[in-house]
Amino acid sequence: MLETQDWKDFSIDSWYEKFQHIAIKTLILEIPADILSKFQYEEASEISDDEETLDEEVVLPNEFKEKLKNALNCLGKTVFVKNNWHAPMDAKMFSVGNTLKAQNIDDIILYFTTSTIIQEDFSNVKAIPFCIALRKWICIHPAAEFRCIVINNILRGITPRDWPTFYNHYKEEGQEIIEKLQKFFTENVKEKFIRKNYTFDVVLSYPDQPVILDFGPLNTKTNLYAFSWKEIGPLLNKEVPAEVAPVFRYLESDIGIMTRADALRKIRVSE
Ligand SMILES: Nc1ncnc2c1ncn2[C@@H]1O[C@H](COP(=O)(O)OP(=O)(O)OP(=O)(O)O)[C@@H](O)[C@H]1O
Ligand SMILES: [Mg+2]
Repeated sequence: MLETQDWKDFSIDSWYEKFQHIAIKTLILEIPADILSKFQYEEASEISDDEETLDEEVVLPNEFKEKLKNALNCLGKTVFVKNNWHAPMDAKMFSVGNTLKAQNIDDIILYFTTSTIIQEDFSNVKAIPFCIALRKWICIHPAAEFRCIVINNILRGITPRDWPTFYNHYKEEGQEIIEKLQKFFTENVKEKFIRKNYTFDVVLSYPDQPVILDFGPLNTKTNLYAFSWKEIGPLLNKEVPAEVAPVFRYLESDIGIMTRADALRKIRVSE
């Protein structure tokens, strides 16, 4: 369970303004306490039972609906939605084409109310206002997404988020990827983010500048993809020179479909 300070520091509301020049355009709306229940599963299902249809006109007050509509228009009418911390990825199956694109208020309500990830945040987080973060929809190639692991303000690890999938070009472009992310980190993130141990997620698509997708806490629960906590945990108490190069860990050969555990085992043997 995260501490209140973790929830605060990693809330998009806390970091977006500082990093907006290197992030995807996002509009953040605080959900007023009196309408939070509209985004909560039980309340929404009660309303639909009583009134047969889950009509957005009925559900949300006009003022908040206008804010959402304006935000949608401002972002080109197709958006990706998150709360302060998480995207409703487990609601993907309810979206058209399995994409989690949101194009209207009903989509947003549907994703929030059907996502266990979002609902758990509503239950677990206390004393922090909840937000809807609407982010301009962009096309992201899965091979272009990386999670960067920062320990004591030093970039130590880089992992593809699409793991374990084999991408041929990582071997050839590995050094370039490391250099590009290291430069991006040093110039834009290092000592600017409020914590010294954390992860940040980046999309690296050429020739554009890298963009930040998210920051996240670094702890036993963190999804480290190609790394394990057993390797990363001990680094938290280890002093290293600031010039130490990050490790870019990726699958080096295509050996078919692997479980995450198989992939980690294989990579340790080959290193
Ligand atoms: N603006 C966007 N347009 C299209 N797809 C997006 C956008 N933002 C994020 N995605 C896709 O959705 C995925 C999840 O987004 P994100 O990393 O922000 O969610 P998260 O809940 O913080 O994930 P995690 O729990 O792993 O940190 C990303 O890996 C990316 O592929
Ligand atoms: Mg995240």
